[in-house]
Amino acid sequence: MNVYYDVALTIQDNDTRGESKAVKARALVKESLMRVVIIGGSGHVGTYLVPRLVEAGHEVVNVSRGRSEPYRQHAAWRNVAQVVADRAAEEADGLFGRRVRDLRPDVVVDMICFEESSARHLVEALRGQVQHLLHCGTIWIHGSSVQVPTTEDAPRRPFGAYGEKKARIEAYLLDEARRHGFPATLLHPGHIVGPGWAPVNPAGNFNSAVFATLARGDELALPNLGMETVHHVHADDVAQAFMGALHNRSAAIGESFHVVSPAALTLRGYAETVARWFGHEPRPRYLPWEEWRATVTPDEAAATWDHIAHSPNCSIAKAQRLLDYQPRYSSLQALHESVAWLIAHGAVEAPGL
Ligand SMILES: NC(=O)c1ccc[n+]([C@@H]2O[C@H](COP(=O)([O-])OP(=O)(O)OC[C@H]3O[C@@H](n4cnc5c(N)ncnc54)[C@H](OP(=O)(O)O)[C@@H]3O)[C@@H](O)[C@H]2O)c1
Repeated sequence: MNVYYDVALTIQDNDTRGESKAVKARALVKESLMRVVIIGGSGHVGTYLVPRLVEAGHEVVNVSRGRSEPYRQHAAWRNVAQVVADRAAEEADGLFGRRVRDLRPDVVVDMICFEESSARHLVEALRGQVQHLLHCGTIWIHGSSVQVPTTEDAPRRPFGAYGEKKARIEAYLLDEARRHGFPATLLHPGHIVGPGWAPVNPAGNFNSAVFATLARGDELALPNLGMETVHHVHADDVAQAFMGALHNRSAAIGESFHVVSPAALTLRGYAETVARWFGHEPRPRYLPWEEWRATVTPDEAAATWDHIAHSPNCSIAKAQRLLDYQPRYSSLQALHESVAWLIAHGAVEAPGL
């Protein structure tokens, strides 16, 4: 039950004159519900966020190209209006912001903003028109950490084009929120996990064969001492954080929040745990980076380097405190669900979990 219904029912319970209070309660519920436009709502996060929004009683419009299907079927999608649009193409023509504004949103959830110019284009169109803009960022706004767990107030030292651009978007949106009153919130997920796609594996890349190696009890080579970290989060916990920001608007506006599991994993600990899921004693082998990278493809080496150079380990204390973020999944619980799905769907050759 969402917060608005809780409020409404409390009013009804305290009612002394019966019907008129119930009518007022219904009016309050109606006022509190939002028309939410989600840009890119049929992906990893939207698969869970859209049903949560619908179940909370909000009116939902999904804007996407109509190519991707949610990873999970849910009856809630019957109540979602679909607008087919290509953001990149419409932005190039200067039309995308107006398209979103014309959908008359109370709230916009932007899942797919990767350039500061895109954020500016949207903000200019929505200024004075929306109650809340929720932007999906990334923990790659941080570079390498000084103190861990990293908190949201750590100075930004991103590296790599993706993180640098996301950090620029964050700086722009926070400035707009804090200096000009634009109602923006940024949610920064870690490595998103869920049934339906390959998660970051214990070698720090996306080759699902690593899980099969561990399932057979074979040796797995890891870079360095295997002590570098990855920080996953279940897609449904990301969705929960978006709901928390939506329902705690005044605390969320002008703020950034990490959205990760309660604790990061070392590659070594992750590999050892997965091996034990299959009844094997782990057989890790540690190689200096230059040697290790020669054992995998260039793409895998690049993905692993990106993860271990960042070695994320982020705090969720701020989201817990201000958004009531209570992740349902540890990293390992989320990964267990994901690996079980990969096995069940033939993407990893291994006995079922
Ligand atoms: N994946 C991760 O591990 C991870 C980690 C940290 C942060 N993030 C952040 O998460 C966000 C992505 O969310 P996600 O992983 O849920 O998305 P996703 O799974 O990549 O799905 C992308 C969504 O956007 C739509 N889309 C893609 N290109 C589009 C376009 N040109 N015009 C309109 N719609 C378009 C897709 O539908 P169509 O294909 O039908 O258009 C789909 O609904 C990004 O901001 C990313 O930085 C991701």
